[in-house]
Amino acid sequence: MTSCRLIASILLVTCAGFFGAAANSQTVPWAEVTPAVGKIDKLPSGVLTKEELEQLTDIGEELFIAKFTAVEGAGRPKSTQAIIPTKPRKGTEIAFSRTAGPDANACSSCHNDPAVGGAGDFVTNVFVSEGFTNADFDTTDPQFSNERGTNHLFGAGLVELLAREMTDDLHSIRQAALAQAASSGEPVTIDLETKGVLFGSLTAMPDGIVDLSRIDGIDADLVVRPFSQKGVMASLRQFTVNAMNHHHGMQAVERFGPRWTGSDDFDEDGRSAELAAADISALVAWQATLPNPVRMEPEQAAWIDVAARGERLFSDFGCAACHIPALPLKSLKFSDPGPMDVSGTLNDSQVAAPAVYDLQLLEWTKQLERNEDGEILVPLFGDLKRHAMTDVRNEQLGNELLSQRFVDRNIFMTAELWGVGSTAPYGHRNDFSTLDEIILAHGGEARDAQLKYRDAGENDRSAIIAFLRTLVIQP
Ligand code: HEC
Ligand code: HEC
Repeated sequence: MTSCRLIASILLVTCAGFFGAAANSQTVPWAEVTPAVGKIDKLPSGVLTKEELEQLTDIGEELFIAKFTAVEGAGRPKSTQAIIPTKPRKGTEIAFSRTAGPDANACSSCHNDPAVGGAGDFVTNVFVSEGFTNADFDTTDPQFSNERGTNHLFGAGLVELLAREMTDDLHSIRQAALAQAASSGEPVTIDLETKGVLFGSLTAMPDGIVDLSRIDGIDADLVVRPFSQKGVMASLRQFTVNAMNHHHGMQAVERFGPRWTGSDDFDEDGRSAELAAADISALVAWQATLPNPVRMEPEQAAWIDVAARGERLFSDFGCAACHIPALPLKSLKFSDPGPMDVSGTLNDSQVAAPAVYDLQLLEWTKQLERNEDGEILVPLFGDLKRHAMTDVRNEQLGNELLSQRFVDRNIFMTAELWGVGSTAPYGHRNDFSTLDEIILAHGGEARDAQLKYRDAGENDRSAIIAFLRTLVIQP
């Protein structure tokens, strides 16, 4: 310490830490850091009151709009964008790269249209590449990346809750089939249906083997993964940890810390413990409590009438088979860390008690309709299922070069259409400037619906657009 003082008297910057808060470049009020990072000293747990939830989400919002700096660990010289912590084969010389990342300063650099937490236009596209798993290089070569448009996060808590309940249902169905096959000594084939969405079927054998060859639009573990355009990410928490590393080089301890990597500073940028589990919790809480998009009541009487007709045609043409107007949800209690996450994302088995955010405390959930069973109707216009979107006659949505997590290149999760009136442009690459174009781009499993739309008269097509444009994010 003495020698440090000695050096420090000459070179003030080097040993700032020894001189208490006043001289520490990281703790002075004008420090070039995000005050919200590390602000929560304890992982939230148990059921939060409305006030506690608001305090947490305020910090989450600050973190979402923060432009992270090198002082607090932005950048990742010795870590690729890969989801599994991976060192680059060669070092990286550039701090930022639009294609390989880090590619932005804040979450809200991309998610900001029409408000923070929203979508982004074409310029915010992300090159999702070897980040899929564990590639040991970051590259600007497009053959290693799929370009994706930024989707909005409004209502994301409800989406994750729906996915969790659907996963539970599917696991119960599998369990019941296995039990029945064991007791009857005969194979049992059963539909994998939850909340009105059919994910194919499975056959349970008496010896406990399950034949999964006829499952549809879901992974073999029967976990509904509702996030990303591809439907391959299970939770807001997982996505947040991924995004922090990919876009900002801010590494969460729960994945990049000693537990999984044996290192305090995996990306070797001289900063350890960049984001604590509580920082990630705050971000998750903020995203999970964002209000759902709503229906706008147009001022023009003509628009109201035409939109009502458009909504009927949307159903008649078969659009609503995938873009299901509402899915029923049993519980509004969002727990975090959640039940679906595995290694590298904190999950509920790794904490004494997860935090519970009761969305019922929030004003906006009071507007949601309920069905006769008391279930909340989540008006997402989606099915949280993946579909093949191309055929030989229409390959517009088959523009990606790489499959992702075993999901073929032409398969995408049904886009949730709530908010679509506020989030132009459209499509997984954000490269369709009009709704008309993206609807005509539907092929594959959506071919019949697309043909009905294509062959309908101008008036009917216009009515569908009028309807879709009432599905907005309230600023
Ligand atoms: C450079 C632009 C960009 C930045 C910065 C960015 N995102 Fe995203 N975000 C995207 C894109 C593009 C997608 C769609 C990715 C895909 O389909 O693979 C996305 C998807 C998401 C999703 C999934 C939403 C859904 O409905 O599927 C979440 C959650 C998310 N981002 C959270 C964050 C958080 C948290 C941050 C900051 C740590 C962040 N994003 C920073 C562009 C960005
Ligand atoms: C077989 C399921 C299916 C059917 C049927 C279907 N869609 Fe889609 N829809 C999807 C999928 C999957 C996507 C995401 C496509 C992509 O970008 O890769 C999508 C995307 C969209 C989008 C773009 C959303 C955005 O934010 O970019 C709109 C608008 C849309 N569909 C409207 C319709 C209309 C109108 C119909 C009826 C004519 C229809 N869809 C029928 C599955 C379907």
